[in-house]
Amino acid sequence: MSQKITVTVKDHSYPIYVGANLLEQAGEIIAPILSRPQSVIITDENVARHQLSRLEKSLTNAGIAFSTLILPAGEATKSFDQLQSVLDQLLGLKLERSDKIIALGGGVIGDLVGFAASIYQRGIGFIQIPTTLLSQVDSSVGGKCGINTPRGKNLVGSFHQPDLVLTDVTTLDSLPERQVRAGYAEVVKYGLINDVDFFTWLESNGEKIITGDRLAQTHAILTSCRAKAHVVAEDEKEKGNRALLNLGHTFGHALEAECGYADTLIHGEAVAIGMVMAFDLSVRMGLCPQADAETVRQHLERLALPTRISDPKHALSNIPMTAQRLFDHTLHDKKASGGKVTFVLTRGLGQAFLCRDVAPNDIKAIFQQSLDAAD
Ligand code: GLY
Repeated sequence: MSQKITVTVKDHSYPIYVGANLLEQAGEIIAPILSRPQSVIITDENVARHQLSRLEKSLTNAGIAFSTLILPAGEATKSFDQLQSVLDQLLGLKLERSDKIIALGGGVIGDLVGFAASIYQRGIGFIQIPTTLLSQVDSSVGGKCGINTPRGKNLVGSFHQPDLVLTDVTTLDSLPERQVRAGYAEVVKYGLINDVDFFTWLESNGEKIITGDRLAQTHAILTSCRAKAHVVAEDEKEKGNRALLNLGHTFGHALEAECGYADTLIHGEAVAIGMVMAFDLSVRMGLCPQADAETVRQHLERLALPTRISDPKHALSNIPMTAQRLFDHTLHDKKASGGKVTFVLTRGLGQAFLCRDVAPNDIKAIFQQSLDAAD
């Protein structure tokens, strides 16, 4: 049993299927959208260990021939080197322009494969099979794809929508708990942006998502994907409100850059701290009640996510950082225009908005507050 959401952008529309054990049905779901019964699966070593045989068996049962490329796991895979290697292997496999490739994995695999698909022979189709909570609620939907460079995260990439997203919630069972908690930050994001009822639901049900309650997981993924589909339909290329989906990300990306994109701080954890900073900044600017910032902090703390740089329970607190260096990272943000960074601020729970007029001193002060905050 699966549930379906349709994403519609200007000249393209595609389904997201969400359900349990969909990997076993992947072959029959994918077969009708292939121009010939042939494909290439691209995944990473960790996902290959837990999920690959399920997908391979299903494709075989549906009569789909395939090759499999297994890449190293981790953020470092989103690189020019891996992109070149993937493109070279696809050329070697004589993939044709009407073929589609399959991304089986989390955000790293989805972003890299989507980007490779967008430039292989000027663009071929691809299918997202996201296996982490983070990719199921965010990165597999909406067509943003790309790689990192030593100068920053996702600085080279494209918008290339998938042809199908297939989300099997059972893949979350083999994910380390830390990864599920980090993905949860992106779930909370949707409540904080504009859906206070969803945030209220998460206050009671958030932990169930982590502990594997299928109904709670499915509800959270569907609600998140519906919200994202709505935003992407209105603003595919992020000319305006799509940037709201970056709540907490400008602060978070600065922290990730300072940690060298290492496992010390994974993306969702950076977003959790970043969202608290976005609320704190909004309080500082007199826009948001202090009580709402406190509610967000307490909710994320209850879900065992870090909420400040100096969190003594997190390895991040051992990395020397300064507010000035963190601030400098924000200037490289992709939302910068005319030298000014667009921040996602808020008037309270579920009331996020975009603002280009944030004083540098306020941004630095919020970094300093997060560096200083004590128990
Ligand atoms: N992850 C934010 C977006 O897709 O726009």
